[in-house]
Amino acid sequence: MKAVEYTEYGSPDVLRVVDVDRPEPGPDEVLVAVRAVSVNGSDWEGLTGRPAYARLGGLRRPRRRVLGSDVAGTVVAVGADVTTFAPGDDVYADLLDRLGCFAEHVCAPARSFAPLPDGMSFVEASAVPQAGVIALRGVVDRGRVRPGQRVLVNGAGGGAGTYAVQLAVLAGAAVTAVDTAHKADHLRSLGAVRVLDHRVDDWTRTGPYDLVLDLACYRSVGAIARGVAPGGTYLVVGGAVRSLLQVLVLGPLVGLAGRKRLRVLAVPLGVRHVGPLVDLLQAGAVRTVVDRTFPLEQTAEALRRHGSGRSVGKVVVTVDPT
Ligand SMILES: NC(=O)c1ccc[n+]([C@@H]2O[C@H](COP(=O)([O-])OP(=O)(O)OC[C@H]3O[C@@H](n4cnc5c(N)ncnc54)[C@H](OP(=O)(O)O)[C@@H]3O)[C@@H](O)[C@H]2O)c1
Repeated sequence: MKAVEYTEYGSPDVLRVVDVDRPEPGPDEVLVAVRAVSVNGSDWEGLTGRPAYARLGGLRRPRRRVLGSDVAGTVVAVGADVTTFAPGDDVYADLLDRLGCFAEHVCAPARSFAPLPDGMSFVEASAVPQAGVIALRGVVDRGRVRPGQRVLVNGAGGGAGTYAVQLAVLAGAAVTAVDTAHKADHLRSLGAVRVLDHRVDDWTRTGPYDLVLDLACYRSVGAIARGVAPGGTYLVVGGAVRSLLQVLVLGPLVGLAGRKRLRVLAVPLGVRHVGPLVDLLQAGAVRTVVDRTFPLEQTAEALRRHGSGRSVGKVVVTVDPT
């Protein structure tokens, strides 16, 4: 089968389409013919080896040769102990713990997969898992957004951000979306009442906000605290290691004075956590923003598009069933 490999950190140029053996499912595994894989911020980080936490699995070289975690496809074989799926079933999953989805087939434990939601295409289902959990956790479970609150989403134009903006708007918040300027119209169309350009505007001086969900944190904890209202919450999921460590270590202390909750948001793995978002997508209350799709052979172009700063929402790699 074809897979897209890399053996060193770098630009999309280090990716190669190669022929490898098709994996065989173990007793508790299913073999899935991949139909769509969405590109996540975590794939870009794994490719480039930046920020530093992207090298946790391999300091000098990537430990896993094939990236890609958010996948949708069709079961083609199941292990002896698998009772939950059968060949022909359409499924989706977040395989961030093993990767390997930029390929024609992927093998993983059956428990990682869920049935493809009714009425959802492979492309849309592949866009949901990681981005959806981040947005749900940040806005609903931990952010607990209420009507009338002021919410800021930093990094709003990416996979998680486009869902987070919509979830906060749906909860009745006035949403400020921060990203690069050319995404402004799109972010307004998702319901943001104000859009900031991170290259020009300093969001920490435009608040304060009751909730800040930060998907691209490059600020000091002191600056962050300035942007959060008394009694408000700041949750960070990605960005520079230095900033994340500051929030982790100093956040609780710095926030104490102003009754502000400054925290790193831990995001659980797995599509079983995205149920409420899937319901909203199926009801048409929230939509998935797909920027472009690329065939598997052009995975390097897909990553390039994601990393170029030109994409809005999700870039998706597709595999032709033939
Ligand atoms: N905590 C956890 O457990 C966990 C789990 C999974 C993922 N994550 C992290 O979550 C983060 C977001 O994921 P994602 O898939 O939504 O990423 P994404 O699709 O790459 O979106 C990130 C967005 O942030 C924008 N951006 C870049 N630099 C910025 C800055 N300085 N200020 C404001 N916006 C900026 C990007 O714009 P451009 O396109 O113009 O660069 C992009 O639109 C990633 O860092 C990922 O590692 C965390």
